[in-house]
Amino acid sequence: MSLFTLTLSLLLGFQFVHAGLPAKIYGVNLGSWLLIEPWMMPAEWISMGGEICNDCSKCIQSEYAFSEKYPDTVDAKFAKHWDTWFNQADVDDLLENGLNAVRIPLGYWIVEALVDRKTEFYPRGGIKALRRGLTQLKKAGISVVLDHHALPGVHTPNQMFAGRCTTDVQFYTDYNFHRALVWTAVMTALSHLDPAFETVASIQAVNEQIMDASKTPGYGEFSKNFVKTVRAVETLLNIHYKRGHRSFDDRASSNFTATMEKMSRTSTFSLPVAKALQDAVPILVSLAVELKIQTSIFGLSSLFRKREALVTNFMDIGWQHNNPSNPADAAIGPQAYDSHLYYNFGGVAAPNEEAHMRHICNLNRIETNAALGNTPLWFGEWWLAPMFEASDEFLRKFADAQKLVYGRSKGWFFWNFKIEQSDVIPADYPRTRSYTECVRRGYLTKNPAAVHDPHVCDPYITPAVPA
Ligand SMILES: *[C@@H]1O[C@H](CO)[C@@H](O)[C@H](O)[C@H]1NC(C)=O
Repeated sequence: MSLFTLTLSLLLGFQFVHAGLPAKIYGVNLGSWLLIEPWMMPAEWISMGGEICNDCSKCIQSEYAFSEKYPDTVDAKFAKHWDTWFNQADVDDLLENGLNAVRIPLGYWIVEALVDRKTEFYPRGGIKALRRGLTQLKKAGISVVLDHHALPGVHTPNQMFAGRCTTDVQFYTDYNFHRALVWTAVMTALSHLDPAFETVASIQAVNEQIMDASKTPGYGEFSKNFVKTVRAVETLLNIHYKRGHRSFDDRASSNFTATMEKMSRTSTFSLPVAKALQDAVPILVSLAVELKIQTSIFGLSSLFRKREALVTNFMDIGWQHNNPSNPADAAIGPQAYDSHLYYNFGGVAAPNEEAHMRHICNLNRIETNAALGNTPLWFGEWWLAPMFEASDEFLRKFADAQKLVYGRSKGWFFWNFKIEQSDVIPADYPRTRSYTECVRRGYLTKNPAAVHDPHVCDPYITPAVPA
């Protein structure tokens, strides 16, 4: 920091805003809030005008299908959902349960200007709901990971969480990688400049890309450009993301978007990053006006933000097979890795208690990932559903074992903070997939750092083979 900026900061009294992650994450996903997955809330979805069917591409069972069907009412219907599914009562529940972080799944359409309205159909207005929720989370001191969960062009086939259920997967193309980088530039800028985003500590590039790496061409290069885009915005904001970082000082301008525009036309950044910054400028300019945050976006203070660098986040290397790229190769500055583990879909452990307990208690993912540079790691999605009908007693053990093992990493985010309670939802969904309900039933302890039995894994640990 130059003497000039230092003096200015002192004069204007800027505070050091600490936006880091908790030392140990005890968190939940805010699933089905700004990205609806109808399976978690079928009664509400049907009452909104949606449908439930076995193959989600065959009925109105995604945000895309709903928005295409109801162009005139979709925004109002979704606004009501955003207000009711996650609000102050839910923030109070998080605090009551001792949680310190949330992961927020988002679609690319939260940045509305990225949507090609001729062929793409999604609700509008989500950004305002996001700001409302972030403001409440900030007051509660809860850290946030913004998770790019549904990517432009659709990044995985026939999944409600991708926003559109289709086999026409177009994310892995230059056009859609570019749109995802623009999203990244906008979200990074907002994270550092919009006061509502103050507890945002991390952005995840892509949730659950296709597992077969041969079907995700360009993903490794995109990962590198994702990190470079985050760091480019931070460079322009003088946010230091690594030791020996050189300050960027544009004293000619006091306006962040003007600086971003100017610098994106120089050779400071690589072409994909420069193009993303260029296209992010008009979006930020109009968001500044729409959200009435002109002072934070254009103001003098924006160039002297005392924020910690964002933690860039990717699915861990173990998520993919078939010669995947290593996300560790993309790291510049703080980065973390995200592992997901679901037992109920099969392919993990045989459908009985013993096999499930043995598997979780001997899990070595943290170590195998660390050996490939994928550390720190957190478990960004998990729940209590096993592959069989579970007793209450088993769910308590299974909860303990998962928390003990995931607790050895940077921490965890349970999926999900809530699940609808209704006549049409299978009873097992809230019972094994809703954090609040699992605490209420006593499977999960009220204190997330505690367990019922710290020795729950003892009988299942496979002894190390003597050398
Ligand atoms: C800041 O620059 C943008 C262009 O990037 C412009 O639209 C805006 O009016 C400027 N605002 C101020 C306050 O100078």
